[in-house]
Amino acid sequence: MQHVSAPKSNLKTKMTQKTTRGKFITLEGIDGAGKSTQLAGIVQCIQQAGISAVVTREPGGTALGEQLRTLLLDKTISMHGETEALLMFAARREHLDKVILPALAQGQWVISDRFTDASFAYQGGGRDLNSDKLTILEYWVQGDLQPDLTLYFDVPVEVGQQRLSQIKDADRFETERTDFFQRVRQAYCDRAQLFPHRIQLIDGCQSPADVTTAVERLLQPLLQHG
Ligand code: TYD
Repeated sequence: MQHVSAPKSNLKTKMTQKTTRGKFITLEGIDGAGKSTQLAGIVQCIQQAGISAVVTREPGGTALGEQLRTLLLDKTISMHGETEALLMFAARREHLDKVILPALAQGQWVISDRFTDASFAYQGGGRDLNSDKLTILEYWVQGDLQPDLTLYFDVPVEVGQQRLSQIKDADRFETERTDFFQRVRQAYCDRAQLFPHRIQLIDGCQSPADVTTAVERLLQPLLQHG
């Protein structure tokens, strides 16, 4: 097969026409860590830089995914830990296909309240599932795609539980015992150590204003260098 190089002028036109892939940012933390409180500020920071952002969540983000979320969070339903993991990844497959990948391809940024690190933390850590199985599902569902930046809001379990008790009725995960959340937190911290360039740990016990400052500082490199 003969390889023919495109004339230089054509090549340049093609490169300038090509849309740059958007950035993919995920928010993680145990329940009550304060990630949802920070979400609006993150979106505002990105939009102020003139970038269009899609805000979404897991499990959920699509019609089917939201129905799976209802089942997954329903405390009257019990399920095997592997069923739980499979449903999380089924919702994620749909989410990638319908929301995340199309938006990134159009150059939009995607901000997702949770993604695959939550499966490793909650199902892997909390439910003690075999992480090799989760890695297989991860690769099956998302191939090589990883977030460009993961903001992990870290708080002690007691702080998360105290905050939750003040704001809402507990769902199926939030009714888990303290030792479950200790395993979840440990798994998040282990992943932050394993992927230090992607996962940035933020001390969620600081005042909300200080957490916002920390978040904005971490977003700057992506905003500046695209
Ligand atoms: P959450 O994102 O905390 O929403 P809310 O703030 O409305 O409670 O709730 C989703 C729950 O789902 C949370 O307890 C973590 C859990 N979860 C998993 O166990 N595995 C996953 O892969 C994902 C994405 C979420």
